[in-house]
Amino acid sequence: MTTKIAPSILSADFSIMGETIKKLEKSGADLIHCDVMDGSFVEPITFGGQMIKNIRPLTKLTLDAHLMIEHPKTQIKFFADAGADIITVHYKACKKISDTYLEETLKLIKSYGVKCGAVVNPDVPVENIFPVFPLCDMVLLMSVYPGYGGQKFISEVMEKIKKARAYAVQIGRPEMDIEIDGGVTLDNAAEIRAAGANVLVAGSAVFNAPDIKAAIQKLKA
Ligand code: DX5
Ligand code: ZN
Repeated sequence: MTTKIAPSILSADFSIMGETIKKLEKSGADLIHCDVMDGSFVEPITFGGQMIKNIRPLTKLTLDAHLMIEHPKTQIKFFADAGADIITVHYKACKKISDTYLEETLKLIKSYGVKCGAVVNPDVPVENIFPVFPLCDMVLLMSVYPGYGGQKFISEVMEKIKKARAYAVQIGRPEMDIEIDGGVTLDNAAEIRAAGANVLVAGSAVFNAPDIKAAIQKLKA
């Protein structure tokens, strides 16, 4: 499978976001990963739908909205209207509301014609989201605890990637997008891809690199 790179704009300079989006497009990025944080599900507050709405006219790249928020169902409309191409929601945020909330939220996302995905934190077994794999366009395995860029990849997640890919194959979705988020570097990208992930989020590995284009190409190669 070809590897797709999703630079996380969390690590970008918000004051020059428009230029950055165009630069990412020219540098071979495949998705723009938008980390939405609410100050409750995770400590920081980043941005909401307005950021996605402003970026939307600047690029044809897939806008990947990673919602690290409580009560995600109440916010789907805003991100769909803003122009997100895919919206991912956290298993933990949904599970604390009810056993059916994750499935309901994924179906709500789809009802807007937007792709959907479920996210698990490093301490949540990937098996917990197996029941919703058939509904998901992508699954996102966190390889750090969400909230901050620049953390270290938690190596135990490597086994979860293998399990997720094996299960996707088992249900007849061998090409399903499996995204990894947190601590992806030029040093571990090859191992992450070999384990079965095909979408790599990269914040610091892209934005702290001297040459963004070279970093994206190396993450793919
Ligand atoms: C963490 C975010 C990540 C983060 C990745 O909560 O979901 O997308 O920006 O940053 P790096 O690649 O620096 O770990
Ligand atoms: Zn993210």
